[in-house]
Amino acid sequence: MSGHKKPWSPDSWKCLAARQLPTYPDAAVLGQVVRQLEQRPPLVHPSEITKLKAQIADAGQGKRFILQAGECAERFVDCQSDVISEKLKILLQTSLIAAHGLRRPVVTIGRLAGQFGKPRSDETETRGEVTLPSYRGDIINGFEFSPAARRPDPHRMLDAYQCACATLNWMRALGESGINDLSQLRRWSLHQDGTAAQAVFDEIRDRLEDAMALLELWGQDYPHAFQNFRTPIFTSHEALLLHYEAGLTRRCEESGEYFNLGSHFLWLGERTRTPDEAHVEYLRGISNPVGIKVGPTVTPEELIELISVINPRNEWGRITLITRLGASKTETLLPPLIEAVAAAGLHVTWACDPMHGNIVRLSDGVKTRYFDNIMAEVLVSQRVHHRSGSWLGGLHLEITAEDVTECVGGNVGIQESHLNLNYQSYCDPRLNYGQSLELMMRFCDSFKNLVHREVASAVAANQQVSSGFELESEF
Ligand code: PEP
Ligand code: CO
Repeated sequence: MSGHKKPWSPDSWKCLAARQLPTYPDAAVLGQVVRQLEQRPPLVHPSEITKLKAQIADAGQGKRFILQAGECAERFVDCQSDVISEKLKILLQTSLIAAHGLRRPVVTIGRLAGQFGKPRSDETETRGEVTLPSYRGDIINGFEFSPAARRPDPHRMLDAYQCACATLNWMRALGESGINDLSQLRRWSLHQDGTAAQAVFDEIRDRLEDAMALLELWGQDYPHAFQNFRTPIFTSHEALLLHYEAGLTRRCEESGEYFNLGSHFLWLGERTRTPDEAHVEYLRGISNPVGIKVGPTVTPEELIELISVINPRNEWGRITLITRLGASKTETLLPPLIEAVAAAGLHVTWACDPMHGNIVRLSDGVKTRYFDNIMAEVLVSQRVHHRSGSWLGGLHLEITAEDVTECVGGNVGIQESHLNLNYQSYCDPRLNYGQSLELMMRFCDSFKNLVHREVASAVAANQQVSSGFELESEF
């Protein structure tokens, strides 16, 4: 671990090997852009980050649940008021379903306001006779298939900052207007009225409104009481483009800690998680909560090493392990990881990303995911954690409020032949509105069944229930 003996600084990663970073043609221009970023106001405040970390710590100990969801790759063209408010609303809707079904407060984290950089498995893309550098997200190069668009341009980092700023500003304004408040459930409806998913959400909303009306009658101080049910929305993105991340890293005068103030939560991608390399080096020095993507090739030993490098003080809330093992491998690969982390006494919050281990490419080259595989990875992970006395504390999803046809299956009945009807993603296929709600409902139903069964067998054996988390008596 020679790379980690030197003192850390926001730029110490520069001495180490780095994967997935673009080679900018002009180092002087890159330097100017990073200096501009360093002078821009931060997007978030350290106190918000500290609050999120405490909530993630709770989620690690079974007291909360994290919903981290949003775009695979945000696009600059989507930096529009309506698109942003729809993103906010689907986050609110899915969080409410989770809170209702799991009987826990939900920590809502968007993959937004900075999710502009993409790691790629292939350096280049070939169409016909032409080969060009791969698209790496709007913060690095353009999606259009032309040599000019695909050239990495550091000025895109300033555009990304601008879009992140506008996105977050509009979300905060909507939040200030009270939209995140439980008393304003009617404002959470999406454009897509009349769909089956809408009906499902409306039913939950009606039940909650009924309950609130009852409380009001009962003499509660309504609506005052419900204004405290305002859910903050936190932001997150992959810590991929380290020039941008370093440009938004600031030292807190009071504590001396460094924070990435471009986002509340950063994660380490599957392709950049080598301990002696640049991305791990950068993340080990900031005080934000950090996610680690855990793919099928990670060994328990590697995972323990990685966690120890990034969280040497074994702080709760600092690390969220986001497993993305693939539906068919989860049953085999997840138990030894859980056991190793528990045996080493490491404090982590577990989450499941059922998206990135389940990507398939069809014969015509279209990238998709089958809803059944996504659902299977979620349910197997839930069962494995439950069996191991561990709490699956979150889901990490790629979803959109739009009526896209990118993933196959679900009650909405999308088939392979429908994929070209409305495929918009520049990167990975996302669950559409109906599929997102269905996934969350089924996850919650399965949780209730697991708990029911456990309570029933404990009652039969006349024992105290001893699972890794608190059981709610109403189940
Ligand atoms: C992603 O989250 O968009 C991603 C690329 O994930 P992973 O690093 O797990 O492949
Ligand atoms: Co993705």
